[in-house]
Amino acid sequence: MNKRMYLPVFGLLVALFLSLMISSEGKTEPIVIRFSHVVAEDTPKGIGAQMFKELVEQRLPGKVVVEIYPRSEKFTDEQAIIGLLLGDVEMVAPSFSKFCRFGKSLEIFDVPFMFDNVAEVHRFQQSDAGQKLLSSMESVGIKGLQYWDNGMRVLSANKPIKAPEDLKGLCFRIESSRVFYSQYTGLGATPMILPYKELPEALKIGIVDGYENSWSNILASKLYLLRRNYTEVDHTFLGYMVATSVSFWDGLPDDIRQELERALNEVTDKVNKLAEEKAMADRATLLEAGLVEVISLNEDERQEWKDLLGPMASQFADDIDPKIMLSAKEAKY
Ligand code: LMR
Repeated sequence: MNKRMYLPVFGLLVALFLSLMISSEGKTEPIVIRFSHVVAEDTPKGIGAQMFKELVEQRLPGKVVVEIYPRSEKFTDEQAIIGLLLGDVEMVAPSFSKFCRFGKSLEIFDVPFMFDNVAEVHRFQQSDAGQKLLSSMESVGIKGLQYWDNGMRVLSANKPIKAPEDLKGLCFRIESSRVFYSQYTGLGATPMILPYKELPEALKIGIVDGYENSWSNILASKLYLLRRNYTEVDHTFLGYMVATSVSFWDGLPDDIRQELERALNEVTDKVNKLAEEKAMADRATLLEAGLVEVISLNEDERQEWKDLLGPMASQFADDIDPKIMLSAKEAKY
């Protein structure tokens, strides 16, 4: 090819380059927030993630896009927390138990009978110590943004459970929590840590005999098809910390961060209101359809569990910030 033949090709390339420059000029790519979670869409967390997406995209059109990855589609909670630090995901909302290895004080939520009901959990979360807990993992790069509710956990196994000794010899799936591990070994059962997405299969093939979870997860993940007996011990609460990474959050423009915080505050109020209503509604749906047998304990029966599991608070007290422990105790009525 001679020089004269090169010229039109070169001209075309320059024109292409300039047109690309012009079209990208003035048009900023939206910030993408990948929100990963492990439960179904029709749960307080699933609904909350969707509300957050709608509110953010309506208030920050073209500036922020929220992509939701439910049902462990992208990551298990354990992977997602690490994914935050690696920049693979920007928002997560795992249960408190799953954060414990990054901040031991979060174990306060797993200690049996630390909170007797949702109102006590809320009083603690709104206290100064409860609010400080949100920033307790910042030194490792994790920033807590809000607390979202699910509900009290109920116990289930392949036989009716009424008294603590009924658990002896059974294998229970647990979340990655040291406190739950001690709880089940203390009751003579064998705990097995499994990610949520493996729970249905583990119950189906009988690797585990039982598990504990909230009514909304039991309904939405169809766990009721795999175990029929449910006992309301009211020993712990299933709640979440909505979290991001310090580097992502601090790197956002101020106006965007403030708008995201505003949206998240509004969604949090709604999620926590609906979680309580949904727990009761989902329980009623299962019960009225005859899909589950529910054992509710009277005060004496519950006291038997409390006497056995209550002293666990002192076992973990050395690892939990004393201010957190005090505040949790003060939240009791
Ligand atoms: C579990 O692993 O059982 C729960 O934490 C799942 C969830 O997110 O509610």
